[in-house]
Amino acid sequence: MIQKGLTFYQTKNRFFHSLAWLFVMQSTTSSSIGLNRGPSGRAIAQPMDVDLLEALYQHTSLERVSSAQYLAMSLWFLERELRGFSSFFKKESLSEQEHGFNFAKYIIARGQNVILDEVTKPKQQWQSVEELVTLSFQMEADVTSSVQQLYSMAERSNDTRTTVFLDPVVDEQIRSEDEMAYILGKVKFANRDPSALLLIDNELNIDINN
Ligand SMILES: [Fe+2]
Ligand SMILES: [Fe+2]
Repeated sequence: MIQKGLTFYQTKNRFFHSLAWLFVMQSTTSSSIGLNRGPSGRAIAQPMDVDLLEALYQHTSLERVSSAQYLAMSLWFLERELRGFSSFFKKESLSEQEHGFNFAKYIIARGQNVILDEVTKPKQQWQSVEELVTLSFQMEADVTSSVQQLYSMAERSNDTRTTVFLDPVVDEQIRSEDEMAYILGKVKFANRDPSALLLIDNELNIDINN
């Protein structure tokens, strides 16, 4: 009811104020209805397929396992005075750790909690540099297969957000496989000759303290 004594402008202001309040209430109520929230209460724009989420957890583990494996390789070289190889694998170990973190960050961005698995004990003994680098190449190929699997699952569940997230990961994997194949090719060519291996070590000699 309009109170007596109010000016025309005061009445008009009250009317618009009430209208705005009604609008805010309505939009708050309608946005609360049907809003998906994750286990931590985070808002979810698109719910994630359960199998895809499980596969993302497994892939995050794979990156962490690769990081531990590359660390073990870096130490193996350090024990044998091959600092160039050692620094190369240390850098690989750190980048796998970063990849694992990026996957975990993405899972959180999608409103989910991150479940971390145990990191298995890395292999620490090799008979030759070639055997070690062969394993590295195989590890990169396995990671790429896992990413391809994630990609197909994301496509099947129409999860474009995940395919877009994975695009640069596929790109980086192609580069990593190429790099590892190059090193493996050179190591094979060296054929266990110490002076040839020292030349490769020199090429890979990135500052170990970085
Ligand atoms: Fe990786
Ligand atoms: Fe990698």
